[in-house]
Amino acid sequence: MKDIGIFYGSTTGTTEEVAHKLGKLLGVSDEDIHNVADTAPSALGDYRLMVLGSSTWGSGELQDDWYDFLDGAGALNLKDHKMAIFGLGDESMTDTFCNAVGEIRKRMEPTEAVLVGEYPADVYDYEHSEATDGNTMYGLLLDEVNRPEITDKRLADWAAIIKKA
Ligand SMILES: Cc1cc2nc3c(=O)[nH]c(=O)nc-3n(C[C@H](O)[C@H](O)[C@H](O)COP(=O)(O)O)c2cc1C
Repeated sequence: MKDIGIFYGSTTGTTEEVAHKLGKLLGVSDEDIHNVADTAPSALGDYRLMVLGSSTWGSGELQDDWYDFLDGAGALNLKDHKMAIFGLGDESMTDTFCNAVGEIRKRMEPTEAVLVGEYPADVYDYEHSEATDGNTMYGLLLDEVNRPEITDKRLADWAAIIKKA
């Protein structure tokens, strides 16, 4: 089994860019960074740690390319694998901030993959998000629209956490 694979869906390229930054921090080569638009869900099973990233679109929906991918992924048995999730969003969309992170977690639940890389919720300013149970975020949330200056530090901190997971 390979060590770490990154899977992303991105409409305007922001999540894609972050996926590659994360790849550098985690020592993941480009061949292990996958756009879910052209990747078979079964590729998830190749990795000990699956890092899944989506932006949020519409009113709190998954990035489009994730729907088909997660339909397939949800049927896999991944109980010997770990999963970390990151999301790109906009804190000013205060009722749906990074909902896609919660959606991925929910749709991956049947796989029994073990979630790692939860992140403090109190560093964000939002009213409602599907990405949290109220205490912690299910993964790392990033806002490149309003707070791009803190992305690199958060990414580095989170990469160090999930690398050891
Ligand atoms: C039409 C539209 C709807 C959006 N809806 C949400 C939303 O509901 N929640 C959120 O957190 N961000 C929302 N966003 C912000 C995007 O998720 C953000 O711009 C993200 O960086 C885009 O990443 P991508 O280029 O990888 O798709 C929306 C952006 C647009 C343009």
